[in-house]
Amino acid sequence: MTTTSQRVEDLTGKTALITGGSAGIGRASAILLARHGAQVAITGRNEERGRKVAREIEEAGGEAHFMVSDVRFADQCQRAVGETLERYGRIDILFNNAGVYYPNTVPDCSESEWDLTIDTSLKGAFLMSKYSLPSMIERGSGVIIHCSSGWGIQGGERAAAYCAAKGGLVVMTKAMAIDHGPRGIRVNCICPGDTDTPMLPDDAKQRGLSWESYLEGASDRPMGRIGSAEEIARAVLFLSTDASSFVTGTALVVDGGGIAG
Ligand SMILES: NC(=O)c1ccc[n+]([C@@H]2O[C@H](COP(=O)([O-])OP(=O)(O)OC[C@H]3O[C@@H](n4cnc5c(N)ncnc54)[C@H](O)[C@@H]3O)[C@@H](O)[C@H]2O)c1
Repeated sequence: MTTTSQRVEDLTGKTALITGGSAGIGRASAILLARHGAQVAITGRNEERGRKVAREIEEAGGEAHFMVSDVRFADQCQRAVGETLERYGRIDILFNNAGVYYPNTVPDCSESEWDLTIDTSLKGAFLMSKYSLPSMIERGSGVIIHCSSGWGIQGGERAAAYCAAKGGLVVMTKAMAIDHGPRGIRVNCICPGDTDTPMLPDDAKQRGLSWESYLEGASDRPMGRIGSAEEIARAVLFLSTDASSFVTGTALVVDGGGIAG
């Protein structure tokens, strides 16, 4: 018997387009949305890794398609959206997940690190939304989810460019929700806390910390641990489905209480 919550979370016949879907939170979200019936279009820069995720989804009985696309470039975003529409005929869910992080203060941050950070998280979300929205507006429905961070809400040490990008996404979410709500489009963002993905060991290394001491830093938080990519993906699923049918313009913090204090 199908329960009401299974029905609400059913994404059969829907298409999700996920940027940076070959690793971490993007990969976990692609797998979870596909498990709930969505056909999943994934973008990323690494073809081998991306195809591997698509294969993994297909081997589990789902439908997935990987496209090499760098979110920093308008022509590549436009091509990814066009290819998704051509293949699946619609984009119901856009998850602007791609992001990069360089732990730097403003004086230490090079201009290229600043540009990479802002262009990947903020401009990438703008470009992918810009090209996806017309078909959503035409259909009168759609869901856009940006990937912000706890550091989009509060500041963090050696994270000025990252906080600027992620903070920008929180307010852009609200502006887009106002603009597109009347056409049936919901726009939200998630704000994960530290999550076990390839991004964190990279950060630990760049800060000169061992993985063990990095993890110890999470032990005084309310839930005493970092999150898993699957736990963040469940928030993406919630915002993707009718379980959140009256939720728009919000920044959903998923961080085990990390910024609650
Ligand atoms: N891991 C965390 O602790 C954490 C916390 C808060 C927010 N986030 C955010 O979650 C999102 C996913 O990060 P993750 O932790 O899974 O890290 P990750 O490094 O595992 O994944 C990031 C993905 O984005 C892709 N990507 C990077 N630049 C790209 C570009 N220009 N074009 C297309 N794809 C690109 C990468 O190839 C990778 O697949 C990011 O936006 C990140 O800022 C992560």
